[in-house]
Amino acid sequence: MEIVTAHLEQWMRDYYFSTDIDIGSSGVENFSMAELRSLVDLEADAIDKVVFNDSPSCGADGLRRAIAERWGNGDPERVMTTHGSSEIIFLVMQALLRRGDEVVVLDPCYHALRNIAAAIGCELKHWKLRFEDNFVPDIAAIKKLITPRTRMVVVNFPHNPTGATITREQLEELVDAVSAVQAYLVWDSAFAELTYDSEPLPDPSLVYNRCITLGTLSKGYGLAGLRVGWCFAEPELLNQFVHLRDYTTLYLSPLLEVVAQRAIEKADVLLRMRLERARLNLDILNKWLADHQDDVRWVRPRGGVTIFPELRRVDDVDQFCHRLAREYGAMVVPGSCFKQPSHIRLGFGGPTLELQDGLLRLAALLRVCAGEKIATSNYDSHPPIPVH
Ligand SMILES: Cc1ncc(COP(=O)(O)O)c(C=O)c1O
Repeated sequence: MEIVTAHLEQWMRDYYFSTDIDIGSSGVENFSMAELRSLVDLEADAIDKVVFNDSPSCGADGLRRAIAERWGNGDPERVMTTHGSSEIIFLVMQALLRRGDEVVVLDPCYHALRNIAAAIGCELKHWKLRFEDNFVPDIAAIKKLITPRTRMVVVNFPHNPTGATITREQLEELVDAVSAVQAYLVWDSAFAELTYDSEPLPDPSLVYNRCITLGTLSKGYGLAGLRVGWCFAEPELLNQFVHLRDYTTLYLSPLLEVVAQRAIEKADVLLRMRLERARLNLDILNKWLADHQDDVRWVRPRGGVTIFPELRRVDDVDQFCHRLAREYGAMVVPGSCFKQPSHIRLGFGGPTLELQDGLLRLAALLRVCAGEKIATSNYDSHPPIPVH
């Protein structure tokens, strides 16, 4: 299988570890083990009791039950845990797609949701979220894209990077359209509980048996480095994913499972802290953006902790982002990682002081670029000085 570079991950490798300020990531501030243990009452003893046995392929019973009780219908048999939701995206596409299959996918979207299907040789049809429409999803448009040939529809709401989402009614319409042609629906709910003006959406795999719903501890719960994700699906589908997993990671470490289970049982505590801060940060961002309207045009997010603004007066946004990282020590993600090169992904889920500092640095470089542009255009507009 030939697969294109995951530009977003390459960008992160280049700058996540070498910059002081992260205003590009799509998650909230991560907890330390000590913070987590005290927030979720995880005794050292529980960790000491872990024996490094093999674990079941779909995950330890207690962990599956905790996931099913919090996000599903209580049935652990419909849960499979993986190393982040990245792993399950890979397994789902490898198990269910073949060359030539028609797949409808959001554009822009998180690279794995598109690139794996493309690498398998599927024919991709793009459901576009358009900046000029304020990134509002057009359900009528996706209904037109879905045909009897459609094998899979892949969506992610709240959406990375735009923060767009759909309503409950629109989700029902979407499920109806997908089920009418008996396609698979991959519902990536990585940001499910990070919402600002609506309740989290219900899990469509509870009403449609060809739906696979993805979740993760990486985004809203401050546990990205724990690498725990999951999916909900019918047990027959999970068996197909396990078949492939036998050749990759086999199962999660029992150590991760103990930590993840307790974190999920107390997920409200973690979520409340981070969502409260995200709301505060969003207000700060809103004010900053109002002060920088000439440079930055944006759409207010309805969920997640990223926005996808356009830099109006920067000619080469990729270079701008490199410069911001190298000279100003702040990381944002260039929109080219999502195939929209005049945009950036700006993350506001981190510590408030870090966001404020990052915005100062971003503003400083925007000012410098505006100055350079004026200087260059002055130069350009003058006739060359004659040389005698
Ligand atoms: C929409 C979406 N899905 C899935 C993932 C994968 O995350 P993880 O593997 O950490 O669960 C990401 C990561 O950014 C994402 O944005």
